[in-house]
Amino acid sequence: MPRVRVRQHVNPLSKRYQTPLNPPSWETLYSDLTRPFFLDIGSARGRFLLEMAKIKPEYNFLGVEIREPLVEEANAKRDELGLTNVYYLFCHVNNSLGILLGSLPPNSLNYVTIQFPDPWFKKRHAKRRIVQPQLVNTLADYLNPHHDHADFQGSVFLQSDVASISEEIASQFDAHPAFVREQPPWLPENPLPVATEREVTSLKENKPIYRTLFHKKA
Ligand SMILES: C[S@@+](CC[C@H](N)C(=O)[O-])C[C@H]1O[C@@H](n2cnc3c(N)ncnc32)[C@H](O)[C@@H]1O
Repeated sequence: MPRVRVRQHVNPLSKRYQTPLNPPSWETLYSDLTRPFFLDIGSARGRFLLEMAKIKPEYNFLGVEIREPLVEEANAKRDELGLTNVYYLFCHVNNSLGILLGSLPPNSLNYVTIQFPDPWFKKRHAKRRIVQPQLVNTLADYLNPHHDHADFQGSVFLQSDVASISEEIASQFDAHPAFVREQPPWLPENPLPVATEREVTSLKENKPIYRTLFHKKA
């Protein structure tokens, strides 16, 4: 399948992205809705979740992404591979996360990843960043509590190669009473078995990567 060419960034505040998500019928998209959900925010071409879905069939994987052509491409790949535990959804996460999580089976959100979010460096563009106080509140409302001995239970994993953005994101989770940070300041390595496309590029370029894990308190 040819890779679709898409714009590198879209402005999430533009009119086109203001319609909140109309949640799909999950039972038509996943073969087993009793599996816990693993959510990847800003899933881009979706290769990270595709690999995760192959090696962890006991989870349902859900990617959300604002660039619609990438979502279509990722779902086409999923169908081609016949995977029934992964799906990608076009949405602007900041106006749709509560609707999305409220439409999943109750207590099913087990793990969340936000990996290499667009930095939107300029101060006047800060409102375009994914991690905002409302998003942290919504994750705190829906994420299951953390369990030490369970795989992928009750945590948010964050990584970026931009120090200032990593610090800002971590400070927002640090400030929320529902979350506790593992091993501050940064994790020595990625706790997940699959690297994202952007992570592979950053590693090749020898960029430092700032990784954090926040656990939801019981
Ligand atoms: C730099 S890319 C990283 C992609 C992937 N996570 C990785 O690590 O390879 C950030 C992704 O987040 C998406 N994104 C940015 N803002 C978003 C929003 N408000 N809602 C959903 N996706 C968003 C972008 O379109 C882009 O695909």
